[in-house]
Amino acid sequence: MSEERIISAAAKSEDQAFDATLRPQNLAEYFGQQKIKDNLDIFMNAAKQRQEPIEHVLLYGPPGLGKTTLAHIIAHEMGVNIRVTSGPAIERAGDLAAILTNLQPGDILFIDEIHRLNKVIEEVLYPAMEDYALDIVIGKGPSARTLRLDLPKFTIIGATTRYNLLSSPLRDRFGVTHRLDYYQHPEIEQILNRSAKILKIELNPEATGLLASRSRLTPRIANRLLKRVRDFAQVKGNGQISTDLANEALRLMDVDEQGLDYLDRRILETIINKFKGGPVGLNSVAAAVQEEEGTIEEIYEPYLMQLGFLMRTPRGRIVSELGYRHLGLEVPGELQAKLI
Ligand SMILES: Nc1ncnc2c1ncn2[C@@H]1O[C@H](COP(=O)(O)OP(=O)(O)O)[C@@H](O)[C@H]1O
Ligand SMILES: [Mg+2]
Repeated sequence: MSEERIISAAAKSEDQAFDATLRPQNLAEYFGQQKIKDNLDIFMNAAKQRQEPIEHVLLYGPPGLGKTTLAHIIAHEMGVNIRVTSGPAIERAGDLAAILTNLQPGDILFIDEIHRLNKVIEEVLYPAMEDYALDIVIGKGPSARTLRLDLPKFTIIGATTRYNLLSSPLRDRFGVTHRLDYYQHPEIEQILNRSAKILKIELNPEATGLLASRSRLTPRIANRLLKRVRDFAQVKGNGQISTDLANEALRLMDVDEQGLDYLDRRILETIINKFKGGPVGLNSVAAAVQEEEGTIEEIYEPYLMQLGFLMRTPRGRIVSELGYRHLGLEVPGELQAKLI
């Protein structure tokens, strides 16, 4: 269902070529996330000075915020190769062994969706991350023995939208962990202007602001809205993206002023209509809107909370005053009492 959403932050197949064209290659073109960039800068320089590979890095946060991009930038800045795989793609220990033994010293192995690695593979990964060694079991039964294989010193960059699903032994093996957060509005405008330049689109400041405010402060969505609006301008107008035209295009996409679409609004409406505005447990909300709990918790809620429309309390989710207002509903009198 969420695949259909224009503002789904998850990469869609149509995005792939597009993502690649617009993906910044170095830290200077990667806007926002200043703290992470400052940290990475020092961390990469220190490793370069010692002529050592960088420690393993874990990047987490909602989709579309730039985890994959950052992994590629790190490789580029370190001047090393990056090998890309994902948790579900590594099915057998042998798959992992094949990847690891083919790495050059200093290489980066990027494991996307690392929370989806299966447990057996995870255990093979531990000594690989810690001691640059692979323990291979040869034979079966009583005659089985383990062979230790040395690996080149390499770096794993793991990315996940679901930090909670990562086992703690795996988390502990990363030297550095960074949480990517939503961008600031001006940063999204910078990203849009950069993308517009690359795509040779003329974008006036007002239209840029409009797109940014509906992007959920997420670069991937900002770029996608830009592309849709460009297509709209080409078909309906003279190719110029005026503010009116951008507004019209966004209206057709059913994205509201805050970047919410029907699913976000449905989550809020469901809590209000079926559960008196909360507090209500995540499982009940998930059942009512027919979405997975984890998806709601790690994809939808963070942005609703960022806007201050939804609150997580020990007793459950509560729609806030701002949430009611956004939907054009009257704020119930007992709301204040719920928050205490
Ligand atoms: N900080 C940034 N500056 C400029 N563009 C960005 C930035 N972060 C992400 N993007 C753009 O957004 C797209 C999605 O980013 P990506 O790294 O694939 O997100 P994630 O891996 O977190 O889902 C990229 O193709 C890139 O064009
Ligand atoms: Mg990614």
